[in-house]
Amino acid sequence: MSVSTLDIRVNKVTKSRISELNHDNIQFGKLYADHMLVAYYENGAWKQPEIVPFENLSLSPATTFMHYGQAIFEGVKAYQNPDGDPIIFRPYDNWKRMNRSAERMGMPDVPEDIFIGGMRQLVELDKEWVPGGEGTSLYIRPFMIAVDEFIGVKPAEKFMFIIITSPAGPYYSKPVSIFVQEQYVRAFPGGIGFTKAAGNYGMSMYPTMKIREMGYDQILWTDGFEHKYVQEIGTMNVFFVVDGKVLTPDLAAGTILEGVTRDSVITLLREKGITVEERPISLDELEEAYKAGKFTEAFGTGTAASIAPIAELTFHDTHMKLPAPENAEITNWLKSELSEIRYGRKADTHDWIVKA
Ligand code: COI
Repeated sequence: MSVSTLDIRVNKVTKSRISELNHDNIQFGKLYADHMLVAYYENGAWKQPEIVPFENLSLSPATTFMHYGQAIFEGVKAYQNPDGDPIIFRPYDNWKRMNRSAERMGMPDVPEDIFIGGMRQLVELDKEWVPGGEGTSLYIRPFMIAVDEFIGVKPAEKFMFIIITSPAGPYYSKPVSIFVQEQYVRAFPGGIGFTKAAGNYGMSMYPTMKIREMGYDQILWTDGFEHKYVQEIGTMNVFFVVDGKVLTPDLAAGTILEGVTRDSVITLLREKGITVEERPISLDELEEAYKAGKFTEAFGTGTAASIAPIAELTFHDTHMKLPAPENAEITNWLKSELSEIRYGRKADTHDWIVKA
């Protein structure tokens, strides 16, 4: 059965948990809104989704994704506009990316009316949970898992698509220290680096533990052949300001995530007349530019992280300390420009905003 008109059954909570939300201290990923959306895929088709109270799932210990990692997710954000209404930033881009991940992972496409329609209805229902303060949002986490009860290795036939939401404050509270990874590898051409597959994050935990012990926040991954070219940071795409131009790794090799914030940043910079080069960027090039005093800013971009200034980049024995964030002109301009658009304070000339 294909879902042509979206008929979502809603089972509302009897008592909201909204009083647990402390607007003065919103931490990322700690508290979840009252409801979630759940849809099942079986016999080659999606069933009607349901919105139900946020609750634990009951799954067999033999469920496929727990063993073989057929699991993908997205990150989207809803903001409160000046009228107090929830607006969602670029959900269609996340929907398309989810389906690119799904294809590579042997999972079914999620139809628009389940992903977008379901998300809008869920956010509208839980709009009390969209915080209003600067830097805050409702983080929306759509995900899909393979749920066959079978521990033989084969592509699954049953799937669950779920959307949960969580009020969010800033992901990083200070500029991040980055360690350039030259031992472990995140992605090779032909692999799943471009997808938001759970495994891309699972494999990063051990190397991340190691660099945290050394006092760094995040890894900058490099190519798996020579560890010469940069790819992306664990939770973000990466940008460098060199000689007044903005450089970011290109997508051609399929080894980095096609970030929605990445694309927004590139669009805004180009509209402002700033040159953006999407191309391979080597560590040697960055080091040379740093020594010549031309490497002036670096930042990460992501839905959760938004725009995160980078304090320092370390590789080999080279420590590249970047200027204090208050002096990072391009990073700060982007932060404020993107905020104006995301909170609906500036005209949406790109059609990036969708009302819940
Ligand atoms: C996001 O930015 O939405 C992400 O998914 C990154 C991270 C929280 C896993």
